[in-house]
Amino acid sequence: MRTVLVLNGPNLGRLGSREPDVYGSANLGDLRVLLTEAAPDDVTVDVRQTDDEAELIHWLYEAVDTSTPVVLNPAAFTHYSYALRDAAALVTKAGIPLVEVHISNPHARETFRHTSVVSAVATGVIAGFGFDSYRLALDHIVRLPPAVG
Ligand code: DQA
Repeated sequence: MRTVLVLNGPNLGRLGSREPDVYGSANLGDLRVLLTEAAPDDVTVDVRQTDDEAELIHWLYEAVDTSTPVVLNPAAFTHYSYALRDAAALVTKAGIPLVEVHISNPHARETFRHTSVVSAVATGVIAGFGFDSYRLALDHIVRLPPAVG
């Protein structure tokens, strides 16, 4: 069995009621169901959310220590957390894929959202497709050879 970590940053626990015009009306539980159904039988999808920067960083250490690929929605940390960026770099420098995802398209929103301090160390970035951003990221990861995916 392979595992993919799907890590979500601050305020994403409020999906469903948070700005539904931007993020839709589905919640994290719906995302978990969607990704579990989308994953091949031999892949476990571990969907987590935290508002705590340190916890998110520690989950990235866990990814390094267990060689587990990551789908990461850093939420607002995307735009300013060099600490999270450095932890994400630990993952990709170890040869483990980390796909940055966003539900919305940050480039079509406020100027402060146009910068991601994480993207440069991510394997790739998918944004603007709603929950499909996660599904596309998962799809990429599960196609990789088992050693890295
Ligand atoms: C987000 C975009 C970020 O700018 C924002 O702070 C979020 C969610 C997205 O998924 O579209 O919390 O990462």
